[in-house]
Amino acid sequence: MKQTAESRGALATDVRIWPVRRYVEMHRRSLEDIERFWSEQARKLDWYKTWDRVLDWDFPHARWFAGGLLNASYQCVDRHVKTWRKSKVAIYWEGEGGESRVLSYSTLYREVSRFASMLKRLGIKKGDCVVLYLPMIPELPVAMLACARIGAIHTVIFSGFSAQSISERAEETKAKLLITADGGYRRGKTIPLKQIADEAVSISPSLETMVVVKRTGEPVTMQDGRDHWLSDLLEEADMVFEPEPVESEHPLYILYTSGTTGRPKGIVHSTGGYLVFNHAAYEWVFDVREESVYWCTADVGWVTGHSSIVYAPLSHGAAIVIYEGAPDYPTVDRWWDIVEKYGVSVLYTSPTAIRMFMAQGEDIPARHDLSSLELLGSVGEPINPEAWHWYYRVIGQERCPIVDTWWQTETGGIMISPTPGIESVPLKPGSVTFPLPGVDAAVLDYDGNETRPGETGYLVIRKPWPGMLVDIYGDPDRYKESYWSQYPGCYYTGDYAMKDEDGYFWLLGRADEVLKVAGHRLGTTELEDAAVAHPAVVEAAVAGRPDEVKGEGIVLFVTLKADEQPSTELEKDLVKHMRQTIGPVASPDEVYFVGSLPKTRSGKIMRRVLKAVAAGASVGDMTTLENEASVEEVRRAYEGLRKAAGD
Ligand code: WTA
Repeated sequence: MKQTAESRGALATDVRIWPVRRYVEMHRRSLEDIERFWSEQARKLDWYKTWDRVLDWDFPHARWFAGGLLNASYQCVDRHVKTWRKSKVAIYWEGEGGESRVLSYSTLYREVSRFASMLKRLGIKKGDCVVLYLPMIPELPVAMLACARIGAIHTVIFSGFSAQSISERAEETKAKLLITADGGYRRGKTIPLKQIADEAVSISPSLETMVVVKRTGEPVTMQDGRDHWLSDLLEEADMVFEPEPVESEHPLYILYTSGTTGRPKGIVHSTGGYLVFNHAAYEWVFDVREESVYWCTADVGWVTGHSSIVYAPLSHGAAIVIYEGAPDYPTVDRWWDIVEKYGVSVLYTSPTAIRMFMAQGEDIPARHDLSSLELLGSVGEPINPEAWHWYYRVIGQERCPIVDTWWQTETGGIMISPTPGIESVPLKPGSVTFPLPGVDAAVLDYDGNETRPGETGYLVIRKPWPGMLVDIYGDPDRYKESYWSQYPGCYYTGDYAMKDEDGYFWLLGRADEVLKVAGHRLGTTELEDAAVAHPAVVEAAVAGRPDEVKGEGIVLFVTLKADEQPSTELEKDLVKHMRQTIGPVASPDEVYFVGSLPKTRSGKIMRRVLKAVAAGASVGDMTTLENEASVEEVRRAYEGLRKAAGD
């Protein structure tokens, strides 16, 4: 971490390229010899034993830093308490109700040690999976680091997911322990997490024990012998608990994410490669200094939270902000209040949030002192130039560079982004600029040739990188099929992209059946599987439609059983059913009841048609359609209802 701001410079927003020599040279050198390059980066971490080999590449499986031993919680906590950072702030936590908790690195060290000792006493061993279903409270990163400390593998489940989602993930990972809270806060209301967890445990034979954090104080049922309050268990725990050295390839966590089939994929990340990659990327992208206060607004339940709230910043000994609640509670200026209160220097958020603030008007942030901000970040979905300019002008006050960072749950960390920590890169609003050192990104056409400047193609990564996923949990065939079978030797991202004449990358959305709704990743098949599980539904099809704020909205088309009639009650019930099956993130924005769905002659639902209908566009070529009449019907149902809604 840098001590001074000497290299920051001002970022130009015009498109003139000046020679970004330091970056270009570093990128070139990194790809010439990736093993040498990544071993230099790996030396920046503390290892109990250094690696024997940098990379074993047995396509499509990589082993990074084989033979090396380290511990993620040691990287994020212990090594800082051995320095002056012992008394530095690690976490500024802000509760939704306005309370705040400040944890120094030495407090974090104590909390993580005690938590780890408690896990050990509960019989959790190296390699066991532990499910974390917690709100955004300090106990969540503490629990993650405590799992890492003993070599247990955490599976964090976003607290907006349902009992069924928890149970599916717990069963697949054979987790015996679930850690949750009595509840969480959202817009002043409480979410009954313990109750949802109870339901999950009742349908998950593998889950035997529950540890409950007291957060809201609302009454919950505790089952004797199975459920324990965290505070009771911690009374018995040891204050000092040494981290367990684990092999570099030992899994640090499994995080479920949506793919193109119905079942979410358990993305497995390693310890060594993942940490080396995130440690390096954080420095290059965020250019954080000792005195910086860094706030990533994501939920820890997503990969952005894992890498950009917990592992990358804490491995640098950064001071981070964690906010528990909704951005507009109790008033729409809550975030700006937090920026002012903690003197936030780096704000890293999503285009959806930016567009939401845009809609509220400039005068709201203008009421706050945002002069502490130095750098702004964006992640999770393409940012439209209009939102980019607003963010730059209104929030950054034309002072702060914007790092638009492209990455995925699978990539583990940021892959394509401006790198002010290496050198100021001239920005183009809406472009993620250039790949990070060590990242060999390319845009290919259907046949696998590199596209010409300005042409749209598929984004691939041509060389392994240390942050890459190790596997899909329990499904190596799917791992190979999903990522390594489209283009020989390349990692397939599933994203459309374009490289312009200056070599800048532009990300153009998903090329597969994955939606990005308010930055949350959802598979259309996963949503359809949930919809057809409703007793009134025969068939279902989901299409994304452009949404001004959320980027994409969910439109659900369903056909009903013969004895069912479309009604507002049924629509409401269907929405409720989707929320219960997957979680509130899966609520359809619109539901349409249709007599049949457009299909190809081979019986496949024509998603392209539905998507076009949902977006109000022309449906294009329909020569392969079986039931053309249903296209008209879907369109009529959609348009009729939009009219009825006064759109
Ligand atoms: C999209 C989130 C454009 C992309 C870290 C990717 C982006 C998917 C950007 C991964 C960006 C992420 N510009 N699109 N800066 N960042 N995406 O796994 O479609 O939740 O494939 O990881 O988000 O979503 P995930």
